[in-house]
Amino acid sequence: MTGRICGTGFCVPHRVMDNEELARMVETSDEWIRERTGIAKRRIITEETTVSMAAEAAKQALADAGIAAEQVELIMTATISSNVILPCAACEVQKEIGALSAACFDINAACCGFLTAYQTAQAYIEAGIYQTILIIGSESLSKLTDWKDRGTCILFGDGAGAAVLKAGEGEGFRSILHSDGGRGEALTCSGKHWKSGEDDTGFMKMDGREVFQFAVKRVPEVIREVLELNHCSLEEIDYFVVHQANRRIIESVARRLGTDVQKFPMNLQDYGNTSSASIPILLAELRRNGTLKKGDRILMAGFGAGLSWGAGIADWGI
Ligand code: ACO
Repeated sequence: MTGRICGTGFCVPHRVMDNEELARMVETSDEWIRERTGIAKRRIITEETTVSMAAEAAKQALADAGIAAEQVELIMTATISSNVILPCAACEVQKEIGALSAACFDINAACCGFLTAYQTAQAYIEAGIYQTILIIGSESLSKLTDWKDRGTCILFGDGAGAAVLKAGEGEGFRSILHSDGGRGEALTCSGKHWKSGEDDTGFMKMDGREVFQFAVKRVPEVIREVLELNHCSLEEIDYFVVHQANRRIIESVARRLGTDVQKFPMNLQDYGNTSSASIPILLAELRRNGTLKKGDRILMAGFGAGLSWGAGIADWGI
């Protein structure tokens, strides 16, 4: 048995923050941000929350799959920006959508969160434990952003994406995840401001250059590794759905693989880096705009805090 994606959905906040608005807050410019990152705007929560966006994305994914919420056996929400520490976001989503039979837990793996949920879902399905699983990536990174730090505040955005996996006959693909905790200092967030409401020492802190260099080396490596593991060639992949952090990172990955960058769809120009939500938002958009067609083979790749990175392959079945 293997898990097949049979529905996707996404939800982003209605408030748009463009680069010009950021340039009024910190010393930066639209030109610099576009040139260095490819990002033109991002969505920022107002009344939305990590849970409300996750629940909306989940409802859309279930409707797309034609599956009732009561049929879902497991909900995994990947997030680093949950509304509260307890209960977990997945339980809150369960309540919102009425998935009364589901077991629920969250995954804290930053930008690899959705891939981690995907690999975990596959393992549950292959083991015969669950047949219908909802996986979500949802983030309100604006809560963790230091709006005075131009090195980070230009990068991030809020949003959620979801996918439904259903058990199907046949053999699937093996995913790969790696971590190097020794390099964790490159991207941290203590979250201390959650307690005080004032203390800004708890925001995300990042060594941008180190993360950049890590990503352009490790992502092509793990893409080759997952292809080899699954006896698949680069040419057999129709689309590379890579974590949407920075256009230059994605272009460099394409160059290092010797693959046409047209095979690397991007939406970071509209949403910025939404961490665990970036891959499922992109999948849902590609599904909605008709880019992804039944039978397409996709390769998903993520990287981020931990430091962690990974990749997985899927045949698009809807
Ligand atoms: N506006 C204008 N100037 C800026 C800005 C800004 N927003 N930010 C930095 N600068 C300046 C720096 O101060 C520096 O000036 P200096 O040369 O006088 O010292 C200059 O621009 C170059 O700075 P760099 O940090 O070298 O710029 P770089 O080209 O590396 O771009 C960036 C910085 C965009 C952060 C890049 O390093 C990057 O994207 N790194 C990867 C970050 C990432 O993807 N993180 C998330 C992954 S994990 C996750 O998603 C949670």
